[in-house]
Amino acid sequence: MPNIYVTREIPQPALEFLQEEAEVVDVNPHDRILEHEEFLESIAGRDGVLCTLNNKVDAATLDAAPSVKVFANFAVGFNNFDVTAATERGVVITNTPGVLTDATADLSWALLFATARRVVEADEFLRAGRFKGWAPMMYLGADITGSTLGIIGAGRIGTAMGLRASAFRMNVLYCNSSSNSPELDGKGARRVELDELLSESDFVSIHAPLNEKTHHLIGRDELARMKSSAHLINTARGPIVDEAALVEALQNGTIAGAGLDVFEDEPALKPGLAELKNVAILPHIGSATTGTRTKMALMAAGNIMAVLNGERPENPVNPEVLK
Ligand code: GLV
Repeated sequence: MPNIYVTREIPQPALEFLQEEAEVVDVNPHDRILEHEEFLESIAGRDGVLCTLNNKVDAATLDAAPSVKVFANFAVGFNNFDVTAATERGVVITNTPGVLTDATADLSWALLFATARRVVEADEFLRAGRFKGWAPMMYLGADITGSTLGIIGAGRIGTAMGLRASAFRMNVLYCNSSSNSPELDGKGARRVELDELLSESDFVSIHAPLNEKTHHLIGRDELARMKSSAHLINTARGPIVDEAALVEALQNGTIAGAGLDVFEDEPALKPGLAELKNVAILPHIGSATTGTRTKMALMAAGNIMAVLNGERPENPVNPEVLK
């Protein structure tokens, strides 16, 4: 009967499932992210760990917890892992793809609307008691309907983002490292190189995974290629954008605005970002709906139990370790 550690409170149905299936299920009792040392102490001697994107699992972590056979990430992104080190040690890593696609695409649209139509700024203005009545020149934003959306990374979430654009009669461009997105192609979207996407798009939305190829994919030069009227949306991972360069671009008017759910040094923001009027910033809540988080938790719990029961988990990141 397995011994499992869960690094943060998760939706109850998943916890109940684990409690039925495992002998020991301990959950981080604090309402905060564990310090790395605490994380190491908590996972020592466990068989499986349900962790979040805040928990760094590198070679040293794996060596400090040799009993752990599976780390189930409560996220689709798995850049918090050294997957090669896990594979070398025969440790299974799993993630939660698919179930969060729609929620994350929906939130990307919320940020697109928020930055284009200055929703946060206007809300603050009203709450501050400064609204003295309708005015023709008040809070003019950018047109969305009929504009061009550029999607960086046309996987599940990028494709879902692009498919929603047809409701707004948008022209969709996308770039993708590996292949075309048949679903986007079927809607008339065009796969282009990054340079063309940046110079042609009114809205650039990032949906790529973070890895060595995408780290700082959007830096000062790329921001300079964008239209001065354009907006950048990022719901993927913060380090894909050089955030200091983005702050500078937003201060200088190199681009018009940004909608961000993720940050380079999360939870910290680069100096100057929070003071800008032309950004909408959210605390990494892309998949944060009750339904989606419940599905993610059940998926992660199912992945752990499958590995510990000697079965194939639904969502292995390194399937080569499964015999
Ligand atoms: C959240 O950021 C995720 O990767 O699921």
